[in-house]
Amino acid sequence: MRASDIKQIGIVGAGTMGSGIAEIFAESGYDVIWYNRSDAGMQRGFARIRENQATLIRNGILTQTAAEAAQAHLHPTNDLIDLAPADVISESIVEALETKQKLFQSLDEICAQETIFTTNTSGLSISKIATVVSHPTRFAGMHYVNPAHIVPIVEIIKGEKTSDTTCELLMDVAKRIRRHPVLVKKDIPGFIANRIQFAVIREALHLVEEGIASPDDIDAVVKHGIGLRWALLGPLEIADLGGLDVFNTICSYLFEALSHAKDAPKVLQDLVKAGKLGVKSGSGFYDYSARKAQQIIADRDKKLLRMLRIKFQSEE
Ligand SMILES: NC(=O)c1ccc[n+]([C@@H]2O[C@H](COP(=O)([O-])OP(=O)(O)OC[C@H]3O[C@@H](n4cnc5c(N)ncnc54)[C@H](O)[C@@H]3O)[C@@H](O)[C@H]2O)c1
Repeated sequence: MRASDIKQIGIVGAGTMGSGIAEIFAESGYDVIWYNRSDAGMQRGFARIRENQATLIRNGILTQTAAEAAQAHLHPTNDLIDLAPADVISESIVEALETKQKLFQSLDEICAQETIFTTNTSGLSISKIATVVSHPTRFAGMHYVNPAHIVPIVEIIKGEKTSDTTCELLMDVAKRIRRHPVLVKKDIPGFIANRIQFAVIREALHLVEEGIASPDDIDAVVKHGIGLRWALLGPLEIADLGGLDVFNTICSYLFEALSHAKDAPKVLQDLVKAGKLGVKSGSGFYDYSARKAQQIIADRDKKLLRMLRIKFQSEE
């Protein structure tokens, strides 16, 4: 099968990620068979897509006509059997190995041999999930970053048995839905994006816990300093620009001083125990009680879209 042969996409899950991924494929003209176990969850998924599209329309990225055309490509179902004709399946259900394995075991019985299975797991082993399917050569990680309908990167992760052909096909599919795919050649926890992101989060939490600076100031250093560069330059390009001899010297004394924590820091555990889960509960490191989550997300998306526009212009 070639990417040009792919017509029908199966999306499993209608939560934050499943909705975003269903939206991307539908907006790229693919027919999407969209499964969620509950109808109520599916309704929330559709509402999320409508909100996403409203932000895209307000920011001049999408027209009302294109949004409606995309919605017509979405075919919801709560019956897994309806996924049988899908050429490629993208799974975004709860992050639990056994639940994902159970799902793929059922899909393996339902779908054709040629069907490509992909999981959007944030860090579970692709190879372990794939043990339940009869053709693990056609099973890979295809990992998006939230908000998936805006952030272009997609990691294609090669499991122990994933074939090169499957990886090449998925790289091609990702380009056809206007994403920027990268190949992760080995199935390691966290792949690339979450390894880098969580190395930074571990250090940020460590700085809060040690009382070195306030959460506000730590976030300011990223937003108004190093993060500003990261939108345009990767860490290795930054090292090249700074001088590798300089970076070599800094590594030699600084690595030892960085957090080597193996567990989530107490400051994070305490917030979670207190029910302070961030935007969704109204407070976390900051207080969000005066604003609705929906508005905070729309503001975030508006800023991301503006930044993307500048980024693309700078790369032209
Ligand atoms: N949220 C993120 O930033 C993010 C980013 C990349 C990848 N992911 C990964 O994507 C996946 C989904 O994350 P999310 O943030 O969309 O979660 P979510 O909680 O928003 O949605 C979870 C979905 O899973 C379904 N579900 C839950 N239990 C199920 C079961 N037993 N059987 C079938 N369906 C079930 C729910 O109905 C819902 O549609 C996870 O593997 C997560 O690690 C999340």
